[in-house]
Amino acid sequence: MKSKILWALSHAEGYVSGQELCEQFEVSRTAVWKVINQLKEEGYEIESVPRKGYRILARPDIVTPEETGSRMDTVWAGKNICFLHSVDSTNNEASRLAESGAPAGTLVLAEEQNQGKGRRGRTWVMAPGSAVAMSLIVRPEMPPAKASMLTLIMGMAVASGCRDYCGVDAKIKWPNDVVIDGKKICGILSEMSSEIDYIKYVVIGAGINTNVAGFPPEIEQKAISLHRLIGYRPNRAVLIAACMKRFEEYYGRFMETQDFSALKEEYDSLLVGIGGKVRVLEPGNEYDGVSEGINSAGELLVRREDGTLTSVYAGEVSVRGIYGYV
Ligand code: BTN
Repeated sequence: MKSKILWALSHAEGYVSGQELCEQFEVSRTAVWKVINQLKEEGYEIESVPRKGYRILARPDIVTPEETGSRMDTVWAGKNICFLHSVDSTNNEASRLAESGAPAGTLVLAEEQNQGKGRRGRTWVMAPGSAVAMSLIVRPEMPPAKASMLTLIMGMAVASGCRDYCGVDAKIKWPNDVVIDGKKICGILSEMSSEIDYIKYVVIGAGINTNVAGFPPEIEQKAISLHRLIGYRPNRAVLIAACMKRFEEYYGRFMETQDFSALKEEYDSLLVGIGGKVRVLEPGNEYDGVSEGINSAGELLVRREDGTLTSVYAGEVSVRGIYGYV
């Protein structure tokens, strides 16, 4: 009921009368009044004017299913929201839900992760309310070998979602990061459960630095928060909805061919350092070259100094001007 009333208030032009809400949702005046009070307790500023009704004046920066759901404009991505105040890791929770049958498009959100996971066994630390921690479940019918491309889809979705929502020049640092002005704004970690030829599910987790006040010394020079860049606290629910809208679009286009043939150009336009110097760091093999964007398999094409073209499937790539690489 709370979701429905919040949705109605969020999408109304002006006031919505108590009577309208009662009739639309077939509930009593008291039930409506109780929901309005609950919303006020959660931080919504709601004006109530006799003979006119209710109107939202200000909204809290929270990512409850009601708030995020009221912003969501998708068909399936992020339509089923699971919210936890505190969780070990939204990726872990999404995997648990996927194991018990949660449908594709289920989005796990949390205010706080106490065992947030980064890539390569690193930890991902976030103070409560300071960031977006979201993990999306997908169940694509395609070979497991193609799953790593889903990380690139989320990269496009987050970069574009940030651009749509707050007009920043967000770019993708292939394959897992989103950067603005050379600093990391988002990290992505995808995890898969599969059989040899069959994907059971993939969880795509993204952590977006929205209001992070300070970073640990080791990443201080490499990371930044949206708040710092735009000068106001971004509304996380709106940002999440913007990312999900883009994810749904890109995923749909990706799944038509199960590769990047239709998305390559758009991906390259979002790719940081294209045409510039990169250093590829593979285990036991480090080399320099020039980034020529991705191929249809989502691999990074690097023109080596001897003129040969290498496609990089996975690994660390340093990009000139990013994270202090000169
Ligand atoms: C990285 O840059 O190393 C990837 C970081 C991924 C962090 C996100 S936050 C939401 C989701 N839950 C996790 O435990 N990790 C991802």
